[in-house]
Amino acid sequence: MTARILDGKSIALTIRQEIALDVALLVQKTGVLPCLAAVLVGEDPASQVYVRNKEIACEKAGIQSQLFRMPASTTTAELLALIEQLNHDSKIHGILVQLPLPTQINERQVLDAVLPAKDVDAFAPENVGLISQGRPRFLPCTPHGVMQLLGRCQIETAGKEVVVVGRSDIVGKPLVSMFLQRSGPLGPSNANATVTCCHSQSQNLAEITRRADILVVAIGKAHFITADMVRPGAVVIDVGINRLGDRIVGDVDFESVSNIASAITPVPGGIGPLTIAMLLKNTLMAATALSR
Ligand code: GUN
Repeated sequence: MTARILDGKSIALTIRQEIALDVALLVQKTGVLPCLAAVLVGEDPASQVYVRNKEIACEKAGIQSQLFRMPASTTTAELLALIEQLNHDSKIHGILVQLPLPTQINERQVLDAVLPAKDVDAFAPENVGLISQGRPRFLPCTPHGVMQLLGRCQIETAGKEVVVVGRSDIVGKPLVSMFLQRSGPLGPSNANATVTCCHSQSQNLAEITRRADILVVAIGKAHFITADMVRPGAVVIDVGINRLGDRIVGDVDFESVSNIASAITPVPGGIGPLTIAMLLKNTLMAATALSR
């Protein structure tokens, strides 16, 4: 293995310490205690773990969190009623509806109902539009984590060929938009890329991925990207979290790709910890804006 390992876990810890300081400052100045409402519908085991991790991270940063559990049989109307109640609750600053939702629930309708000022996932159409126009209110947590990791590891994106594999609303699409902007979360060198997005209908995928100076993979398929799909010296960012037997693995075949890439994120311990850190950041920002 020759690639530098990009340690998302330690970067996330640094960011969380920065946020904890800012939370303490906000409390001191305004008396407002930031509070995140997490809504969990049903018993999906992975979602339970994610929500629990978010609660623990909130507590460590001095952010309050409230968990709203609803049964798997919940209707769209029942969930909308809860969202409405949280929208109006002045003690709640951020609302997170954990996905996936049970199939009987109209997910789009629920996500659209979250007040944009409390939409810490940045899933609401208004917030997606603001990101696309380069004037974000909130940045979506996982894409923001990718940009923070690159910037804090001194990997510049300006002028580089970035290839994003995956076009999801949560990761791929917002990442494309963020790489394309004239400035990023850490300034102009943290944006301004030449961006290509590949997906399940793309032809000659390996040909496209081999062009990348920076390859970001978010398709949810274990070990999908192999060494032959990566340009020697490329930076490889693996957003995948897949269960393979009793192991958690990424979308990148770490073993082969780490011999050819110049830098690579591990799974676990790469982008995952940053997603949670950026959720805390958005909750702090929401509380700050709503306290004015
Ligand atoms: N499920 C998987 N990823 C996410 C995410 O970023 N936000 C929410 N709310 N649910 C998810």
